[in-house]
Amino acid sequence: MKSFVVVANRLPVDASPGGLVTALEPVARNAGGAWVGWGGTPDEAAEPFDHDGVHIRPVELSAQDVDRYYEGQSNSTIWPLFHDGVEPAVHHREWRVAYEAVNRRFAEAAADVAAEGATVWVHDYQLLLVPGLLRAARPDLRIGFFLHIPFPPVELFMQLPRRTEFVRGLLGADLVGFQQPLAAQNFLRLTAQLLGLHPEGEHVEYEGRTVTARAFPISIDAAEIDALATDPEVLAEAERLRKDLGGDRRLLLLGVDRLDYTKGIDQRIEAYGELLADGTISNDEAVLVQVATPSRMRVAQYQQLRERVEREVGRINGEYGDVGRVPLHYLFQSRTRAELVALYLAADIMLVTPLRDGMNLVAKEYVAARRDHGGALVLSEFTGAAAELTDAFLVNPYDVDDVKRGISAAIAAAPDDLAARMRRMRERVLEHDVARWAREFLDALT
Ligand code: ADP
Ligand code: G6P
Repeated sequence: MKSFVVVANRLPVDASPGGLVTALEPVARNAGGAWVGWGGTPDEAAEPFDHDGVHIRPVELSAQDVDRYYEGQSNSTIWPLFHDGVEPAVHHREWRVAYEAVNRRFAEAAADVAAEGATVWVHDYQLLLVPGLLRAARPDLRIGFFLHIPFPPVELFMQLPRRTEFVRGLLGADLVGFQQPLAAQNFLRLTAQLLGLHPEGEHVEYEGRTVTARAFPISIDAAEIDALATDPEVLAEAERLRKDLGGDRRLLLLGVDRLDYTKGIDQRIEAYGELLADGTISNDEAVLVQVATPSRMRVAQYQQLRERVEREVGRINGEYGDVGRVPLHYLFQSRTRAELVALYLAADIMLVTPLRDGMNLVAKEYVAARRDHGGALVLSEFTGAAAELTDAFLVNPYDVDDVKRGISAAIAAAPDDLAARMRRMRERVLEHDVARWAREFLDALT
């Protein structure tokens, strides 16, 4: 039995990268306690075990659960709808049934490991019903919920079948955390609209309890990135990368994402292609490295994105490349954190252009890595990070001309202007790191 329990779809033990595990892993390691989650492989039964001081409690998903709960309701219904509907959300009754059944399994596992009066922290859009289910089983617990992705505007949320149950599910928590203040306000408005509740400020009374909804912008383990950025092997790797890509005179642009249609990867590549086409940059002076880690590859929209991106990469390299020198290196691969930091250090311009993103940790990692105050960040205004990293070159990713303008401005900026921007952004990220985020959330919860 544990007095602190994290509940998330993913466990911190499989190889799939993503913002949730990146952010929560150092928090869980510090707190000890238990982590309830799925190991990432269908039909795999696993016994509880201990990992890095955390008690791991695996939840089993059958191949059909993966199909309906994970790829279906979570990643084909809720994910696109909560990201502004940038791809159309798909709705199926059997997905909703599976989602509820799996949420019940997570709630039961959490109830099983949580000690009397424990604090249970539930995470993200795959588990919206867990707070309510857990509250019903274990009224003694303090229950927190944090949504890592955006919460949609009220009009979009209203499209969700069985929308009221999702709101009730979240109201099972004592504290519901979001990335941005507007998200918390949208949620509170929905409690009024769908349940006739009377939110006041950031609080709402529900079934005799007070539920608080507030923004807690998430962050990274900045000290870890900072330390990697001084590691001699990482520095040597950054040197080697620059040399391999054509030496110091070549301007290195970088993108690092899960291959996801919310990340604006195709928009970014389109802007880069146009800059090559209109001669603003040439293959002699610039190179773009795009690292895109495979993600949710059994979902149709992700396969279509992969095909679009690969076609565009081929077109651009075919049109503007030369023997031994191409303008775009596309790596459909995952990289270790040390390798990512080497890339961050080598990159003159980091391109983070999501159409919508709850936070975007890559932008914060880039800034944390630049202890030399070098480099420039081109950042979509539709990321949570844009609210904090106001010294980035902010762009509207839907407007290719604006993305091109942002890149051109970063290229043209004076070195001392860039250094001043980076210093300010870095201070912000180092001070507001993930440990502080967790402390603020847990202080508010307990
Ligand atoms: P999301 O949570 O949507 O994946 P974030 O930018 O918030 O987006 O977090 C992504 C995390 O995954 C970051 O910590 C980033 O370093 C990591 N990541 C992204 N792409 C890769 C990759 N190609 N290889 C390894 N790690 C990656
Ligand atoms: C985002 C989500 C996480 C998710 C991660 C990776 O960060 O907010 O909940 O774990 O993407 O996606 P995956 O589907 O591989 O878990």
